[in-house]
Amino acid sequence: MGLLEGQRAFITGGASGIGRATARMMAAEGARVAVADINGDGAKEAAAEIGGLAFEVDVTDPEMVQAAVRDAAHAFGGLTIAFNNAGAGLLANVHEYSAEQWDQVVRLNLTGVFSGTKAAVPVILESGGGSIVNTASISGVRPSAGEAPYAAAKAGVIALTQSAALEYAPAIRVNAVSPGWILTGLTAPWKEIPGEEARAVERTPMKRLGEPEDIAKVVVFLCSDLAGFVTGQNIVIDGGMILHGAGVDGMLAYLQSAMRGDPPQYY
Ligand SMILES: NC(=O)c1ccc[n+]([C@@H]2O[C@H](COP(=O)([O-])OP(=O)(O)OC[C@H]3O[C@@H](n4cnc5c(N)ncnc54)[C@H](O)[C@@H]3O)[C@@H](O)[C@H]2O)c1
Repeated sequence: MGLLEGQRAFITGGASGIGRATARMMAAEGARVAVADINGDGAKEAAAEIGGLAFEVDVTDPEMVQAAVRDAAHAFGGLTIAFNNAGAGLLANVHEYSAEQWDQVVRLNLTGVFSGTKAAVPVILESGGGSIVNTASISGVRPSAGEAPYAAAKAGVIALTQSAALEYAPAIRVNAVSPGWILTGLTAPWKEIPGEEARAVERTPMKRLGEPEDIAKVVVFLCSDLAGFVTGQNIVIDGGMILHGAGVDGMLAYLQSAMRGDPPQYY
C-alpha cells in the first residue's frame, strides 16, 4: 500500500521540475493528482503520464486558482493535499529592480502561495483534513546578493506557512520545503556560467547538485502519516549547501564583472 493511498492532491508548477517529479511520486504512492501550471500543454502532458487532471492556471490570478482547486476537488470528490510550488526569480541589485518587477516576483512566489492556501483550506477541511506544503527556498533562509524580491517572498512563504500551521491544526498540517540548487528548468541557465556548477558542487557537502526527486521525496513524506506530528516546519533540502552559503552567492557580481569585461569577480 502506498504512502498516499486515497489522498487527492493539487500541485501548482506541476508541469516541470520539482512539481512534476512530485506529481509522479504522489501518484506512485497512491494519490490522485491535479497538475496546475501556467504552461497548459505541459500540465496536460504531466497529468497524462500519471492519469491525473490538468489545469492551465496562472497562480498570480487568485480567481483562476480558486476555480481550478474547486474543479479538482469536485472531480476527485474532495481534496486532501495542496502543494503550492510554482515560482521563479530574477537577478539584479535592489535599486535596479523596477517596482513592476518587484511586484511580479512577490506576486508569483508569495501571493501565489497565499492564493493556493486560501483556495485549498475550505475544501481540505470539508474533506476531513489533510496537508499543505509550500515551496520556499534556501534564499528565504539565507539570501544571496541579487535576489532581494525572491528572497523576501520566500522568507514570506516560510512565515505564511507558520501562521497557517497555527490556524489550521489539528485538521491541516502546513509545512514548507526549501530547496537548494536543484537541476530543473529554473537553474538550467546557471550551468551556462563558466565554472559555476563546479563551484556549487564544491560548496555542497553532499558533493552533488540536487535532483527534483530529492525534493519530491520530502514533500511525499510531509503529506503522509509518517509526518503526522510535523507542522509549521521549513525543511531545507540542499545537500548541506547553506552551511557554506546559498545557491546564487556571487553570481550577480560575476555577471556584472563579465559584462564590464573585467576579470571574474564573485563578491
Ligand atoms: N530549482 C532550484 O534550484 C530551486 C531552488 C529553490 C527553490 N526553488 C523553487 O522550487 C519551485 C519549483 O521550481 P523548479 O525548480 O521546479 O522550476 P521549473 O521552472 O522547472 O518549474 C516551475 C514551474 O512553475 C510554472 N510556473 C511559473 N510561473 C507560473 C505561474 N504564474 N502560474 C503557474 N505556474 C507557473 C512553470 O511553468 C514551471 O512548470 C519554485 O517555487 C522555485 O522558486 C527551486
